[in-house]
This record gives sequence, C-alpha cells and structure tokens, in this order.
Amino acid sequence: MVEHEDLQVKSLGAGRLDSPLSQLLAERRTSLHYVDESDRVLFDDTVGLAAARGSAAIEDLPSFEPGGPRRRIYFDPAKTNVGIVTCGGLCPGLNDVIRALVLELSNHYRVNRIVGFRNGFQGLSSRYRHPTVELRPETVERINEYGGTILGTSRGNQDPEDIVDCLEMLGINVLIVIGGDGSMRGALSIADVIAQRERRIAVVGVPKTIDNDIPYIEQSFGFQTAFAKATEAIRAAHVEATAVPNGIGVVQLMGRHCGFIACYAALANNDADFVLIPEVPFTLDGENGFLDQLRRRVAERGHALVVVAEGAGQEYLQDAPKRLDASGNQKLHDFGEYLRRRIGDYFTEMREDANIRYINPSYAIRSVPADPYDGVYCIRLAQAAVHAAMAGRTEMVVGRWRGRFVHVPMQLAIGTRNQVDPEGDLWLSVLEATGQPTRFA
Ligand code: F6P
Repeated sequence: MVEHEDLQVKSLGAGRLDSPLSQLLAERRTSLHYVDESDRVLFDDTVGLAAARGSAAIEDLPSFEPGGPRRRIYFDPAKTNVGIVTCGGLCPGLNDVIRALVLELSNHYRVNRIVGFRNGFQGLSSRYRHPTVELRPETVERINEYGGTILGTSRGNQDPEDIVDCLEMLGINVLIVIGGDGSMRGALSIADVIAQRERRIAVVGVPKTIDNDIPYIEQSFGFQTAFAKATEAIRAAHVEATAVPNGIGVVQLMGRHCGFIACYAALANNDADFVLIPEVPFTLDGENGFLDQLRRRVAERGHALVVVAEGAGQEYLQDAPKRLDASGNQKLHDFGEYLRRRIGDYFTEMREDANIRYINPSYAIRSVPADPYDGVYCIRLAQAAVHAAMAGRTEMVVGRWRGRFVHVPMQLAIGTRNQVDPEGDLWLSVLEATGQPTRFA
C-alpha cells in the first residue's frame, strides 16, 4: 500500500512573484484557472479501495498534488534560465513536448533563457562537450510535425557532480528532464547533488516511455501513437496469413517488461488469435501448449495471427549471452524470431504445412510523429511541467491520474513498474477478443 508520506512533492520554497501568466488570467477577470492546492486528486478511484484503508479521514487518504498554474510562483521569470534535455529511447511526441515547454516558458512566463542540452545527459557532461542549443519559439516552429527529438538523445546517466557544475556554470535555475525511469534515476541523483550544494535549482521530469510502464501515470505520451502504428504491421500480417493456405502471421512489438503495446494493438485490429506478453507465462510444448493450440486454430480457421511482446518468452532464450544497454537494461533476445522457427519446426514435425509471415516493425512504431491525441497530451504535460517548475516544485514528474494532471514524486515514479494485470480487465478483454485459453498446457 502507498503511504500518504510517499505522495508528498518536494518544493524549493514559498512563492513570491506574480507572473505574466497571472496578468493574462487577470485580464480575463477570472481566478478559476489557478490551482486550489487543497483540492488534491485522490489516489484511489473507488469507494471500496478508499474504504479498504480503514477508518482514515478524507484528508488522510493518499492523494496527489494537482498540476496547473499557481497564484504565486517561486522563480522570477526575468532572471530564470531553463535547461531541457531528452534522454533514453525515442518516443512519439518528444518534439511536441520540447516545443510546448519552450512556448509556455517564453510566451506565458517570459523566462530569460532556455537552453537545450544535446544527446541526453551527455549534453551536460564536460566529457562530451556537445554544444548547447538556444531554444526560442522560432527555433521550435513546426518541430512537432517530425518524429525523434531535435535535441538528440542517448541512453545512460553521467556523473551528477559534473552535471551540476554545468548547470551552475550556465546559471540554470530549472532543469526539465524528458525521459524514462533510468533517466529519472539520473535526475534524482542530480537533485541530490543540488541539495548537497544547497543550490536552488528545480529538477522536474516529463515521464517518457512508449512501453507505458511508468506507475501512477495513466498513460504515457506517445503510447497511443505507437500502438496505432503497430496496428499497420498486424493488419499486414493478417492480410498475408489469410491469403495463403495455413497462413500464420507473427508480429513482434516493443514492450520490454510489459505487453501494453501488444494488447492495445491486438485489440485495435481485433484479428489476433493469440497475444503473448511477459506478464502471463506460457508453455510452448506439450498437449495444450501454445504450439498445439496454434495448430488447432489453424486447422479450424485456415490461418492464425499471433502478436507477441518482445519481452515475452525470454526464458526460452536463457542460454544466449546476457548483455546490458547503456541504461543498464538487459538487452532482449529475439523471441519473435525464435517463435517463428519453433512454429515452423513444429508444423514440419506434425507433417502439416505452415506459411509463416513474421513482421517485426521494431523502431518504426516509435520514430513517428505524435498523433493528434498524443499531441494534445504532450502540450498539456509540458504546460503542467512548466507550472510546477516555476512554482518551485522539484524532484517530481508530471502525469495524468484519474483524468487530472498531477505532481508525482520522482521517487514514486521509479519505485515500481506498470504491467498488464493478468487478473485485470485489459487482459480479460484480450482473452475475450482472441479466444485464446487462459493458460497454455
Ligand atoms: O523502453 C522503450 C523501448 O522502446 C523498449 O520497448 C525497447 O525494448 C527498447 O526501448 C529498445 O530501445 P533501444 O534499442 O533504443 O535501446
């Protein structure tokens, strides 16, 4: 259970100044847009969950601080310099977030300077000496029409002491890190050094992962675009499989530790016969094993379509050498390719034909521009991140929880990982749509 203390957001101090944004809101003669900080977003979404916490008073129920503009802000915009860095693997919407940060910081807060760091945390390290980029509204014009990140990215963290030296040298007051859990760990170690040196620099994160596995964030930006793109591969595999006798389409999709992309993409097309994800173990061999079930499905329908998340079935490849990427993640072995081979061998052994079509769209699903839904989401996340940073919040990420933008302590956002719940309703939908058995073997 998450304790109330865990949901506290760190702040650099009390607010002091009115911002140009407040003038904008004043002109509209409304104060409705300001966040009422006492109006917290409850962690639980059902009465049953809240009740399960015992006889806690309403104010003691775990809750998140709401995101949005504050009546008083901490940093004086005219003296504030902001740094932006994108880290880790690509994700649709990175450029949308960068652009929205720059527009919000420039047009609504009118900060002094915005600096883009190149190639992830390398851009803040004296070892690499990547030049910085001055970010202004005109620099970021139309960048949201393109995938990737104009700042470049890299995996892996750098020496936090060196990074804080860089922030101090450039007079950066706010560092906004757009990255995944590994990058947020890096951001926390930067914040630790800042605290040790007693500097007033806010570190705010915009969480990024197409895998959609960051906890306490309903959906990560770019996820919808990525699974929508993945449906193209599924459609192609289905067309191929249905056009030949005993056609079997196998599509492998990204998802290191979780099968969200596989589940959503499979549901979107509603043509998959089997979905294999890391959260739900399965057996390939034996009666009622996956291969046996697949053979029966092909016999019944004349074809079959299998969607597999790349993190699934890694136990079948345990003998392959283990390697780590620069973020410290274990590099996955190609289970989709292994599965294709095993399906072929099995049908040969059973003296049956199989026309297997294997598609792995790989990076093609994450290097595309954000769709309009993700575009909107990116803008709103960026606005929430700027409001939080200017109000002096630090060591936190912005997210959407129960439909509201909230501040999530960084520590909490990296503590666990979101996964498809094998007992939950998403997986039940997949089982209903595919008709696959709840267990193989
Ligand atoms: O973590 C996001 C992700 O896209 C995973 O789905 C995938 O396993 C991994 O990144 C691959 O990224 P890269 O090849 O850049 O390390």
